[in-house]
Amino acid sequence: MKGLILSGGKGTRLYPLTYTRAKQLIPVANKPILVRVIETIRDAGITEIGIVIGDTGPEIREAVGDGSQFGVAVTYIPQDAPRGLAHAVKIARDFLGDDRFVMFLGDNVIQGGISALIRDFAGHTDWNSQIVLTEVEQPERYGVARLNDEGRIVQLIEKPKDPPSNLALVGIYMFDHHIFEATDAIQPSWRNELEITDAIQWLVEHAYMVFPHVHRGWWIDTGEAGELLRANGLVLDELVPEIRGTVDDQSQVDSRVTIEEGAEIINSVIRGPAIIGQNTRIVDSYVGPFSSIYHNVVIENSEIQGSMVLEHSSIRDIPTRIEDSLIGRHAEVTIATLRPKAIKMHLGDHSRLGLL
Ligand code: TTP
Repeated sequence: MKGLILSGGKGTRLYPLTYTRAKQLIPVANKPILVRVIETIRDAGITEIGIVIGDTGPEIREAVGDGSQFGVAVTYIPQDAPRGLAHAVKIARDFLGDDRFVMFLGDNVIQGGISALIRDFAGHTDWNSQIVLTEVEQPERYGVARLNDEGRIVQLIEKPKDPPSNLALVGIYMFDHHIFEATDAIQPSWRNELEITDAIQWLVEHAYMVFPHVHRGWWIDTGEAGELLRANGLVLDELVPEIRGTVDDQSQVDSRVTIEEGAEIINSVIRGPAIIGQNTRIVDSYVGPFSSIYHNVVIENSEIQGSMVLEHSSIRDIPTRIEDSLIGRHAEVTIATLRPKAIKMHLGDHSRLGLL
């Protein structure tokens, strides 16, 4: 079996964070989402992985390389424009050949891995496709599946007004080579994309066997900032803590905190679950639960919690606590200590700042 990860796309919903960077490389609990996806596929026993890339391809190639650092072999599949998930499958045909494969959206984070799914599909050699579904509270906001009495999928409906079930599509799909008949047959949708739901619907209508796999546990599509923070909190909650950096005698670090190599905690309090990245300095500060502070960050004389701070940013002398915030790379947040007192910041285009 092979793996196919979709890592092209535009990431408009995460602007401005993704103007200059692939959203799949944003670190959740200090590890890029794409690396989490690769490890999830690898841990299910699949080591041949194709990654579909778009404009941000060079950055993704640089971060992932040939995959050997993660114990997998990666083949890159360039997509000229984000022409849809089914288009991504179509262009991966040479890589996939006649093998069965798992397709995983490169911006999704899932609890508990996919080994059970892979075993399920491998054990049913007569099934042509298996779609991962999960129970959701507001099915009208998702793509939803209708099942028949035998438990087979008979219809997929995008954002139904009157949902036939509360089982929504997660971004993980299993296919055999018959999917290429579908991707060749379907036409672009109103938004000019080849839709994977149309391809699956084509399989169903042509008597191919499409079954669900119901995922229990959380699953997050990190496409929006709020969801990114939520995924960060959930992953932090499950992280096994480790202290590899240094903590001075004046600091308090509780048992659910990870301190990475070269990080320094000086006269500060860190409450977990939280992670402090490589070579980051926390000085005279408080870092509260559900915070991920990435590599080479400086936090001085400030308080922050429930937030993500990306690499090479600094936060200094902020008089109020920063909460539920997403601070990008190379950002500076500070306050001038000399009169006239003022908050000073370097914010990217379309940034949002809520001052008291
Ligand atoms: P989406 O979140 O549906 O699309 P997007 O990345 O363009 O984001 P936005 O809606 O914020 O503009 O994509 C899901 C995943 O699939 C994501 O990792 C990008 C990837 N993708 C491709 O690789 N090729 C494509 O043609 C599309 C549409 C998405």
